[in-house]
Amino acid sequence: MKVHETAFMTSMFRAMDETLSKDVFSKLWNNQKTKVWVDAYLNEVSSEEAKTHCVRNRFFLERISQLYHEKQVDRVINFGSGFSMYPFLLNKSIQHIEIDKPEVIDYKKDKISDWISKGKLPLRDIHFIGADFSKDYEEYILSELKAFKSKRHTFILLEGVLFFLNKSQANRIFDFFNKIQKKGDFIGSVSFDDSIQKKKAFARLQNFFLSKNLTTTKGDYLTLNNDFYKNRTSYSVIENKDYFDYSKELDNTINTNATDILNENFYLLEKQN
Ligand SMILES: C[S@@+](CC[C@H](N)C(=O)[O-])C[C@H]1O[C@@H](n2cnc3c(N)ncnc32)[C@H](O)[C@@H]1O
Repeated sequence: MKVHETAFMTSMFRAMDETLSKDVFSKLWNNQKTKVWVDAYLNEVSSEEAKTHCVRNRFFLERISQLYHEKQVDRVINFGSGFSMYPFLLNKSIQHIEIDKPEVIDYKKDKISDWISKGKLPLRDIHFIGADFSKDYEEYILSELKAFKSKRHTFILLEGVLFFLNKSQANRIFDFFNKIQKKGDFIGSVSFDDSIQKKKAFARLQNFFLSKNLTTTKGDYLTLNNDFYKNRTSYSVIENKDYFDYSKELDNTINTNATDILNENFYLLEKQN
């Protein structure tokens, strides 16, 4: 399994409960190969994983939408965008820049333009950049971003990606965000905190990826405590919720034993200077 194939799985999870995720377009990415992995994953790792992904997507969808309506955000830069469909779920005046590994971006770009031309998706202002966050990417992304007006207010999203990076790559990408953002811009990020390491579901998750020979930059997966975010000097954490907190707000009934849930933390940061 290649890391981008986890993006197909994430999309399929969102399609499994559209009322919860509010993502009515993710089903376009569904395919038989992913269905086999998704079924195995739900069975072997945690049956709650479809809902945890729906709730995560919904959190960022609602936050970006709210910030857009409050005129605080009009550009979304999605780092490790995978096959997420935010551009089509948000107001059409928002500009979207989607960044992922070149092979993911090339594939997504072709599919999206085909679906737009066939009327399956509405037209949106989307730009694609291929880059690898485990290599030297800063100069290249900066040069690509120069083509866009800097006046826009950005929301950077890092959803489902940190897990695959190591600590120094994680620090490096946040330093890069600081470089490209202005005061009043936002970051939305997702990570597991260290307490997940003791959960059996997390061991099962690691075993699942190991058994599928998932290639990442490092064998073990990154977890980050709140301090990682709180200690970012130019940013303040304005919201921190997890799957359980946000499920309450959405009236999402949790069916699985809490110890079998891969609980992720959702963070919203605002740049202060
Ligand atoms: C689990 S998927 C999440 C996709 C999307 N953000 C979502 O939530 O639906 C992880 C994504 O991160 C991307 N990714 C992982 N490591 C990366 C790297 N080193 N450079 C660029 N993208 C990376 C993968 O290609 C994949 O699309």
